[in-house]
Amino acid sequence: MPGIINWDELWKATHAGGFHHHGKDLAAHWDSRARLFNKRVMKNKQRANDQVAILGLTPAETVLDVGAGTGRLALPMARQAKSVTALDQSAGMLACLQENMAAEGIGNIRCIQKSWQDVALGELEPHDVVLSSNSLGVYDLKEALSKMDALARRAVYIFTFSDGKRDDGLRKFLKESRESKKGGGHGRREVGPADYLVMYNLLADMGILADIKMMTWQSDEHYASLEEAVAEWKEMHEVPDEKDQMLREFLSQRLTKDGSGLCMHRSHRQVLISWQKGGASPA
Ligand SMILES: C[S@@+](CC[C@H](N)C(=O)[O-])C[C@H]1O[C@@H](n2cnc3c(N)ncnc32)[C@H](O)[C@@H]1O
Repeated sequence: MPGIINWDELWKATHAGGFHHHGKDLAAHWDSRARLFNKRVMKNKQRANDQVAILGLTPAETVLDVGAGTGRLALPMARQAKSVTALDQSAGMLACLQENMAAEGIGNIRCIQKSWQDVALGELEPHDVVLSSNSLGVYDLKEALSKMDALARRAVYIFTFSDGKRDDGLRKFLKESRESKKGGGHGRREVGPADYLVMYNLLADMGILADIKMMTWQSDEHYASLEEAVAEWKEMHEVPDEKDQMLREFLSQRLTKDGSGLCMHRSHRQVLISWQKGGASPA
């Protein structure tokens, strides 16, 4: 039951611009950056393993990974659980996931190419654990969350972004670097509370009293040269040509010498919203 703030409507109002990156729809955006994303995230398996350890999976359990991407979490989860259903709207991301499965000799992941909003309840069987990690690009968040809840037998885990205003400077740089770019931005209006706060309060309105945990992850990104770092960041974050110099300066300030190459130490803030099933039924 909504109180003085209607969190459902607030989410829709802040995402009324839809989900797009620089004019491309979300699936096309992830298709085009799948290979580079995969290369980058697969370098940091420790973080993925630490995230998966939180879930306490057992060998008898099944997992539904909503917005599984290239399998950063699906692969380590598949090693611990009975099976994983990896759903993603991007064919490019799932193609990388399938290559990763073959390379790692993993056979118990089923890939489904679909948007979460297009999945009808009843179309998928319930899973013990339902998870999403930085992957809820949906306009109707209430519907998306209630479907995750309905399909989970034991628990739901949602890793999501914290308030971007307090990150390690990357967001500020990207915002400035894209200001001149036509059709730039992410669709979301930079007003109102951070997404995770809307999500948490919306869940409460739905009768789901979730746990919320603030987490900080450290990572080191290694590059052979400044040129390699500039090329990778330019492609990854779609920095326009006219901002090359700005990108070069930003990276030079952040990179430190590391043996024969360069290293960027990064600190990522993330939020985990989770709930166990078996309590009172949601409203
Ligand atoms: C930042 S990546 C995260 C991938 C993976 N969960 C991880 O933690 O590495 C976001 C992924 O979520 C997918 N995604 C976002 N919104 C989605 C939706 N509504 N339905 C299906 N997939 C979605 C994108 O296609 C992309 O592959």
